[in-house]
Amino acid sequence: MTRKTPITIARGDGIGPEIMDATLRILDAAGAQIAPEEIEIGKAVYERGIMNGIEEKAWDSLHRTRVFLKAPITTPQGGGFKSLNVTVRKALGLFANVRPCVAYHPYVKTNFPDMDLVIIRENEEDLYAGIEHRQTQDVVQSIKLISRPGSERIVRYAFEYARANGRRKVTCMAKDNIMKMADGLFHNVFDEIGKEYPDIEQEFYIIDIGTARIAARPSAFDVIVTENLYGDIISDVAVEVTGSVGLGGSCNIGTDFGMFEAVHGSAPDIAGKGIANPSGLLLGSILMLVHIGQGEVAEKIHNAWLRTIEDGIHTGDLYREDLSKRKVGTADFADAVIERLGAKPAKFKPVSYAAGGGAMVLPPLKNVPAEKKVLSGVDVTVEWKGAAPADIAARVKTCTLNGLSLANITNRGVVVWPDGQPETSCSDQWRLRLTGSGNVSFGHVIEILGKLDAAGLDIAKAANLYSYDGKPGWSAGQGE
Ligand code: NAI
Ligand code: MG
Repeated sequence: MTRKTPITIARGDGIGPEIMDATLRILDAAGAQIAPEEIEIGKAVYERGIMNGIEEKAWDSLHRTRVFLKAPITTPQGGGFKSLNVTVRKALGLFANVRPCVAYHPYVKTNFPDMDLVIIRENEEDLYAGIEHRQTQDVVQSIKLISRPGSERIVRYAFEYARANGRRKVTCMAKDNIMKMADGLFHNVFDEIGKEYPDIEQEFYIIDIGTARIAARPSAFDVIVTENLYGDIISDVAVEVTGSVGLGGSCNIGTDFGMFEAVHGSAPDIAGKGIANPSGLLLGSILMLVHIGQGEVAEKIHNAWLRTIEDGIHTGDLYREDLSKRKVGTADFADAVIERLGAKPAKFKPVSYAAGGGAMVLPPLKNVPAEKKVLSGVDVTVEWKGAAPADIAARVKTCTLNGLSLANITNRGVVVWPDGQPETSCSDQWRLRLTGSGNVSFGHVIEILGKLDAAGLDIAKAANLYSYDGKPGWSAGQGE
């Protein structure tokens, strides 16, 4: 007899308890070897004044089981409450969001009956670090962080996922024609790691055309790997195109932790009526079973579920006079799936988790040799409303810069001095690029900042310009 795997579950809010009961009943009937421990999350916890919606003591269970099956919760609006998902994701280092987007034609209306893709979204970096500053009265900056290890981990995960799940192609999407450094790094890491997976077909799309292609020809994709913001957007596009938002399951994966859930919310409008469709959470729990190495049970449930759908046994959200045979509530739907355990779908392609699953163990990050880092200048951002670029240059010229000189001034990324275009519309934020020929010391930079300040320039920030192994570690201004 297999030892039962402890998992943490939370029933959540709204329809959460109903769909969790149905899901657990199906898992039990299918012979899933799990030992659920329940924690409380969501509305009731928020209402006790716990701002992130999860009690301290709940973490003990999560840290112990490292597997979390979570029903949807109702997120309170306003009042400074923090998103539970973001809290859990950050606390447990869940770097990958995995979202299968599958068409269930003809039971769910879609223009793309063959669609079956998986989006793997980086979960910890990018603009979602939420690092923002008001730089001047008129300009706010939001910082996008992309790291080499972060990119390597998610790209590696995508390739390993493709291999483990019998998928043939991985598509990377980013915008490195514009963000040559940040997205260029992501793209380069994809090309580099991809060489270790010659058995998997590989391609790259610029994110805008890639998104359009998902909307117009989703069947062309298999596994898609992308950065956090792009992944957020294309996940919603793709799941919308399947026509079955209510059926999606998803998971968030960390080095040795997985959180599994439905894509939909707590549906307060139908809570307590016993009519909710438990499929989203059930499909989430199937991802969980694969993750904990119970692929056989996952396969049995998944095929029984497909069979139930094609047998026309539908909850109200899917029910259609012409295609459905029986309209059922949550509990009856679960019973119908249980009755079909062991059966295979006839119209849908049966799924196979023959590999048996198990948490993917990723190889360690590659060893990257340390590069030679040289400070070669500084970008100084100043606030000056209504200035002419030449006035700013003249002000800089009154300072002795000891080996550094003003290379250019940009405004919102465009070079406005020397030789700017009179038409460029300028904000109150100016970036002065000071570069030197030799080695620059940090003390030197500080000294120069002092001089610019004394000359009356209103400094918002300074960013050092480093080169790595002789290559500039900064982008050129547009028109430079
Ligand atoms: P929702 O997904 O809860 O509901 C949208 C519509 O779909 C409603 O008409 C609902 O009745 C229907 N629906 C959703 N799931 C269904 C199911 N399983 N069976 C049948 N019909 C279903 O989205 P909404 O209304 O925007 O959000 C409600 C609450 O859920 C909010 O408090 C929101 O913050 C929260 N939410 C929580 C999530 C989570 O915990 N992961 C994810 C998304 C929203
Ligand atoms: Mg989103």
